[in-house]
Amino acid sequence: MSAIRARRLLGATAGLMLIALIAVLARGTGTQMTADDLAFLGQTVASEQIGLGQALYAQNCASCHGANLEGQANWRRRLDTGRMPAPPHDESGHTWHHSDQDLFKMSKFGVGAVIPGYESDMPAFEGILSDGQLMAVLAYIKSRWSEQIQARQAAITKQHRDR
Ligand code: HEC
Repeated sequence: MSAIRARRLLGATAGLMLIALIAVLARGTGTQMTADDLAFLGQTVASEQIGLGQALYAQNCASCHGANLEGQANWRRRLDTGRMPAPPHDESGHTWHHSDQDLFKMSKFGVGAVIPGYESDMPAFEGILSDGQLMAVLAYIKSRWSEQIQARQAAITKQHRDR
């Protein structure tokens, strides 16, 4: 092999390795888990859907639940109206304590759909967001949890399906 060819080959190999490294880094820092494992209501959610969910979250949910899913200040303390502030959707809240089925129902019809008679400031998104859009938003929220919390919430979803 000539010295020039050898050098070219070396350059190409280094280039490929760099691309692979960037791909690994991008995966590691973007969402906390591999997007291909993420399911909502038993359906695999593609990473483009999660990206769409992120944009929809910013437009429809962030004003109450926080731009970074952190919830409203003092979210555990009842308001003077007797209602509860918006809780965080990250791991510090209790969103992950609910099955996919219940998360979907609460987002579409309001919390009263899951806890009958319950009064809440959470708006119902029926007629505002489609089922697919709501699923994308909820999948985005799930993508922000650690693998451990995702696994625990997946078990809750499975229990719900079996009951
Ligand atoms: C106007 C403010 C507001 C907006 C906008 C809003 N929420 Fe909420 N949300 C609330 C409040 C307040 C609660 C707490 C309800 C309660 O406990 O009374 C809540 C609760 C929830 C819950 C139940 C969480 C739990 O752990 O019990 C889910 C799920 C939820 N919201 C999803 C969403 C999604 C998805 C969006 C955007 C598509 C959204 N919310 C937009 C105010 C809001």
